[in-house]
Amino acid sequence: MRTDLLGYLTELLALYPAKGLYGHKRDLAHRIFKHVPADAKTFVDAFGGSGIISYGAKLHGLSVRCNDIMGFASLRLRAQIQNDGIILTDSDIDLLKSPNSDKQDYCERWYGKAIGVDNCQYLDLLAANLCKLDCDAKREVATYIAVLCIMSRMNYCAVTFSPLKIFTGYRHFHDFDLQSAFRQYAIEEFPLSVFANGKVHQATRKDAVDLAGEVDADVMYIDSPYCSPGGKYAHDHAFYDKLTLILEGKPEQVHNPYNGAAGLPAHLDFSKRNTALMAFAKLFMRAKGCRRIILSYNTTSAISPYEIVRLAEQHYGKLVSWEEIATIRPTTSDKGLKKTGEVILVFDRYEGKPVGSPLAFIGGRPRIELPDQFRFIDLFCGGMGAMHLVGKRLGAKCVFSSEIYRPACKNYEKNYGVYPAGDITKINAWDIPEHEILCGGFPCQAFSLAGPQKGFVDQRGLLFLEIVHIARA
Ligand SMILES: C[S@@+](CC[C@H](N)C(=O)[O-])C[C@H]1O[C@@H](n2cnc3c(N)ncnc32)[C@H](O)[C@@H]1O
Repeated sequence: MRTDLLGYLTELLALYPAKGLYGHKRDLAHRIFKHVPADAKTFVDAFGGSGIISYGAKLHGLSVRCNDIMGFASLRLRAQIQNDGIILTDSDIDLLKSPNSDKQDYCERWYGKAIGVDNCQYLDLLAANLCKLDCDAKREVATYIAVLCIMSRMNYCAVTFSPLKIFTGYRHFHDFDLQSAFRQYAIEEFPLSVFANGKVHQATRKDAVDLAGEVDADVMYIDSPYCSPGGKYAHDHAFYDKLTLILEGKPEQVHNPYNGAAGLPAHLDFSKRNTALMAFAKLFMRAKGCRRIILSYNTTSAISPYEIVRLAEQHYGKLVSWEEIATIRPTTSDKGLKKTGEVILVFDRYEGKPVGSPLAFIGGRPRIELPDQFRFIDLFCGGMGAMHLVGKRLGAKCVFSSEIYRPACKNYEKNYGVYPAGDITKINAWDIPEHEILCGGFPCQAFSLAGPQKGFVDQRGLLFLEIVHIARA
C-alpha cells in the first residue's frame, strides 16, 4: 500500500460521516490498510457496517465490494460507496417538500412521540415524495441521509423500543429540526464524502458467508459483530431498518414498529458463540477466492482470537500478523465508552494445498483438531469402531475399548490392532485409564421402534448408566 497515503488516511477518513455507533474502525484504519498488499486491486468488506473501511479502500484506489446483512447498513453502502458522485440538488430537496398527497403518516403514528411530530411529518413527506426524484440512486441517497440525520442525534446508535419501554426522544430530539438538518447535510457535507476513483464498486445485502463463496479478491476484510453475552446486535439496530422500510414505501414490512425484530434475511449469526464458531469456519472455507484476509476482533469477546486463528489456519491459510491494540469504544447502551482490546489478524491463503475438503466437516460440524495428548475411550465399540476412526482422525489416542460380542472384538482387533476389554458391567471404573473424551454409543435395542421397547425394564436399556458411572469416576 502507498505509505505516503497512509499518513493522510486519518485526515481523509474524517470526511466520512461515521455518525452513530459504527465507525470506530476509523481509528484502526491505518493499521488495517498497512496490510493491504501494494499490488492489490480488489477489496471486499464483508461486514460493511458504517462503510468507513470500504471508504478507506476506495481512497486507496481499490475496487470495493461491500456488504451488510442489515437494511440500513446496506443502503448506506450503496449511497456512500457504490455511489460514484450522485448527490441531491436544491431543487431535488424542494421537490421532496411537495404536498403529502398520499397522506402517509406511518412515521407520525409510530414514532411521533419518540422523535418529534414535526420530524416525523417530514419523514412521511419524504416517503410520499421520494418517487418524484429522477433516479433510484437519488432515492437511496435521500433515504440514507434522512435516517442518518436521525441516527446522528442518538448518543449511542442502538435504540430499543418495546411495548413496555417506549423510547422517549425528548433528550435527543427536542431541539432538532430534521428538515433543515437534511438540507444542510445533503448540500454541504454529503458531497464531500462521495467520489469516484475510476474503479467499479458494488454494495450488497447478503450473508457474508454466502458472499465469501462468490468473490475473488486480493483482500477480504472481516469485521463481524462481536460475541458478547446478551448481545443483541440486530435488535439494537432494527429501528433504523424500520425507518428505511417506511421511506422505501414498504411500511407493511414493518411488522411491529416497537419491537427489536429486524426482519433480516436468513443469515448466520456471528453474535452468539455457537453459531459464530460455525459461521467463521464456513466463512474461512469459502473465502478461498481471496488472497489475504484481514480480520479485526474484540479481545474480550466470547470467542477468543486464538480460536479464530485455529479455525482460519485449519480452513483458509496461515497467520502472518497478530497485532493487539488497547482501544476505547462506545457501547450500545447508555453506559458510554468502555476500555477494550482489539486484535488485527492477517491470514494468507494456503497456495496449492487443499483446505476445507468435505472431510473437514464431520456430521455437519466444523472439524476440531485435538491436541496430540488427547486420550479417548471407546465403549460399546462394536467391530467397525467408527468412534475409534473419528478419534484417530482428529489426532487423539484410544486408551481403552470395550465390547461384549466376541466376533466384533475380533474385527475391532483386525481394524485397530487392539482386542477390546469385555463386558463393561464387569469392569471397575477406576481400572479404566484416564481420558479426556468418553465415546460410547450404548445399545439401543431396548428403545428401538423395531423391538418390544421395554426401555429401562430391559437390562440393555440400563447400560447407559455405565457411561454415567465411568464419566463420574
Ligand atoms: C462490527 S460491525 C462492522 C463495523 C464496520 N467495519 C465499521 O467500522 O463501521 C458488523 C456488521 O456486520 C453485519 N452483519 C452481521 N451478521 C452478518 C452476516 N451474517 N452477514 C453480513 N453482515 C452481517 C452487521 O449488520 C454489522 O453492520
